[in-house]
Amino acid sequence: LNVPKDPCIVLVTGAAGQIGYALVPMIARGAMLGLDQPVILHMLDIEPAAEALNGVKMELIDAAFPLLKGVVATTDVAEACKDVNIAVMVGGFPRKEGMERKDVMSKNVSIYKAQASALEKHAAPDCKVLVVANPANTNALILKEFAPSIPEKNITCLTRLDHNRALGQISERLDVHVSDVKNVIIWGNHSSTQYPDVNHATVTTSSGEKSVREIVTDDNWLNSEFISTVQQRGAAIIKARKQSSALSAASSACDHIRNWVLGTPKGTWVSMGVYSDGSYGIQEGLIYSFPVTCEKGEWSIVQGLKIDEFSRAKMDATAKELAEEKSLAYSCLN
Ligand code: NAD
Ligand code: LMR
Repeated sequence: LNVPKDPCIVLVTGAAGQIGYALVPMIARGAMLGLDQPVILHMLDIEPAAEALNGVKMELIDAAFPLLKGVVATTDVAEACKDVNIAVMVGGFPRKEGMERKDVMSKNVSIYKAQASALEKHAAPDCKVLVVANPANTNALILKEFAPSIPEKNITCLTRLDHNRALGQISERLDVHVSDVKNVIIWGNHSSTQYPDVNHATVTTSSGEKSVREIVTDDNWLNSEFISTVQQRGAAIIKARKQSSALSAASSACDHIRNWVLGTPKGTWVSMGVYSDGSYGIQEGLIYSFPVTCEKGEWSIVQGLKIDEFSRAKMDATAKELAEEKSLAYSCLN
């Protein structure tokens, strides 16, 4: 028996921006929640972008997506948040060439405080939240602090793009398909201090599964150039496009929510920015990227991975930056 599912209400903030423009058609096509899951899109942007937002709504109607059961385009945050099941927070002030993600902090902290309250009041009680806008980890932390009735497990930030970038770099280096590489880890902040870790990553070859460390014999590349390429990829895209990454960010946001809601494949983990419970000695009270597996709509941090000295130092350095961002964010609030 094929019972049609009820539509899932998905909020995209900043929907008139460039990630929004790439993301909403992916959601409407089923890339986020599956090909059997109808969706209703709620799109929020600010007044100066209202006309452009309405243009996006017109295009969504024109594309005649079979799974799309409704579209709301609004500049009213309460209307946008009403009954949402999934909130993808893309709205904010983006980093421009030459700026560090920190520079955009104060502009975004006040936005995330206000939108947290709106989600708290109007969203479905089990709403799942993904923060994309930078500084993503700290925006998510502010959102968590100002939406205390949303379970802290439901508030996450996007580091899946960095995870996918790491898979991409290994696949290019080895000339294997990206889907044959798995279990890289992004630890920490979605910033240039993030630690892309390949110590547990594997590649599927014709003679079985091999560790990346075994196949990439150039340790020097793995320990330096690979790491800095992934850390700096966002900046490299900005330099090349004069705008920050959009299609890869949108696609990775779909990957993040799809795995969270529908589960990760057996034996595979992904990276998500989640509220630290103290795992791997990372202080509680930070939104930190960990390796996670997901089942039945819940993520759990992969436990028991061996951490060497090199990794420990890098994991601690990115935690330290997050602690500093947290105090900077609080100073912006006052
Ligand atoms: P953009 O400037 O094209 O779009 C941002 C949109 O947000 C604009 O339409 C703007 O009007 C809107 N906006 C601003 N304030 C708002 C508010 N208070 N409420 C609702 N909407 C608001 O930027 P973009 O390229 O789409 O990037 C969006 C964000 O995502 C940026 O912060 C960027 O740095 C970040 N980003 C994160 C990742 C990641 O992996 N975590 C990757 C790429 C980009
Ligand atoms: C990215 O990683 O592409 C985005 O976070 C944009 C940026 O500021 O680097």
